[in-house]
Amino acid sequence: MPVKKKKAVDVSAQPIGVFDSGIGGLTVANAIQKVLPHESLIYFGDTAHLPYGDKSPDSIKYYAIRISQFLLERNCKMIVIACNTASSIAYETVKDFVGGKIPVVDVISPVVDYVVHDKKMKKVGVIGTKGTIKSDIYAKKIHAASKRLEVASLATPLLAPMIEEGFFNNKISRTVIGSYLDSRKLAKIDGLILACTHYPLIRPEVEDYYKKTVNIIDTAGVVADNVKKVLKTKKLLSKKKSPVHHFYVSDFTRSFEESTRFFFKNKIHLEKIDIWK
Ligand code: DGL
Repeated sequence: MPVKKKKAVDVSAQPIGVFDSGIGGLTVANAIQKVLPHESLIYFGDTAHLPYGDKSPDSIKYYAIRISQFLLERNCKMIVIACNTASSIAYETVKDFVGGKIPVVDVISPVVDYVVHDKKMKKVGVIGTKGTIKSDIYAKKIHAASKRLEVASLATPLLAPMIEEGFFNNKISRTVIGSYLDSRKLAKIDGLILACTHYPLIRPEVEDYYKKTVNIIDTAGVVADNVKKVLKTKKLLSKKKSPVHHFYVSDFTRSFEESTRFFFKNKIHLEKIDIWK
């Protein structure tokens, strides 16, 4: 009997897996689709466990491993942890779990790399969830790369739930944002890291507050450029003409659907899935 030749799998055509607690990672997914228009995405928004910012490190690690397993089962060629909280607590755990099978990218390392190479910056502010700020990961990583920069970190726990609710660009959001940014800790900063992937959605309000005196770092864009760099190095860039994106949530929310449509127009496949059984 003739031996059937196995068809070689084109790994580069497989999707990129992206996850966050909710809509925040969509800002990263959106930046990826702009920089890499031929890539298909599988996005998981863990809306059932949102917000990640005040969960224990053990819970975050558990969620991150289970979601990574789901993305591996969906044949993703790369995992992007599109969440600062999960990146700060579970990046090493996810890498260990994946065991080098596919590349894992976090949202913190590329931003740190960008900031330490900005010679004009002297004092950089970091705003993020309680989990991210408590881990002190930005200060640790920045100081490991450069002693020159002063880092001022501030937890802003109301922001992610507020944004997830679609509550931004209004009088109340401006008051909440303003009262955080008024903090003396952030005095005299010349750069600000939006260390939560939800925050690009309030970037215009942050910019209005600082009236162009502070460089608000485009963290989603920096992460997307890094995704491209890693895929290129590993020869995994897709040449697909018509990429397909799939969005999964652990709990259906109107805000998630609206945000997904906002970023990805009408061509979306959104499904609620229970991966916790
Ligand atoms: N978007 C996430 C982050 O970057 C999580 C926000 C949350 O769920 O608390 O930290």
